[in-house]
Amino acid sequence: MTERAASLPAADALIRRIFQALAKPGPSGDVAPETVPVCDMLPEILFYASLEPPPMARLAASVASLAPRLAWRPRPGAEKEGAAFLAGHANAYVVGPGGLEPRDDVFVGISLMAPGLRYPDHDHPPEEVYISLAGGEWKKGDEDWQAPGIGGLVHNPPGIVHAMRTKDEPLLAIWCLWAGS
Ligand SMILES: [Fe+2]
Repeated sequence: MTERAASLPAADALIRRIFQALAKPGPSGDVAPETVPVCDMLPEILFYASLEPPPMARLAASVASLAPRLAWRPRPGAEKEGAAFLAGHANAYVVGPGGLEPRDDVFVGISLMAPGLRYPDHDHPPEEVYISLAGGEWKKGDEDWQAPGIGGLVHNPPGIVHAMRTKDEPLLAIWCLWAGS
């Protein structure tokens, strides 16, 4: 397996399954790049991530090279969460629907959120792991908020309600979901 910045036993099986699936490339997607003003935060966030040990530095470099090719958009329904949230976050698919590699067994995407915001509670059947590239806190189920830090992982079992929030620092994270059989 590729070198990893962190380990999280609960997520190991999921990560193995995703790596195995991605070893067989899917088709190339025809993505029309889109950007939103909050994406202006990416270079500074990625600069700090690039100072981390090699796995995170390489991940930051990969995100920096991919970011201009992606369609960055607010989450569907974000307008109901208020103007600050609508303007202050964006998501982009790398793998999966609307991504550079459109496939239906693995979804990999990126979430960006400015300081002082809360991402709404959400849930989805696929099991998920987040890789944090910046600040931000995560909550799932009845557990307390946790701050994984740069290189930290967050694992969400299938269907669990979860959310993110930011205080003084932005959040940048990659999410990987297994939607295959
Ligand atoms: Fe999620």
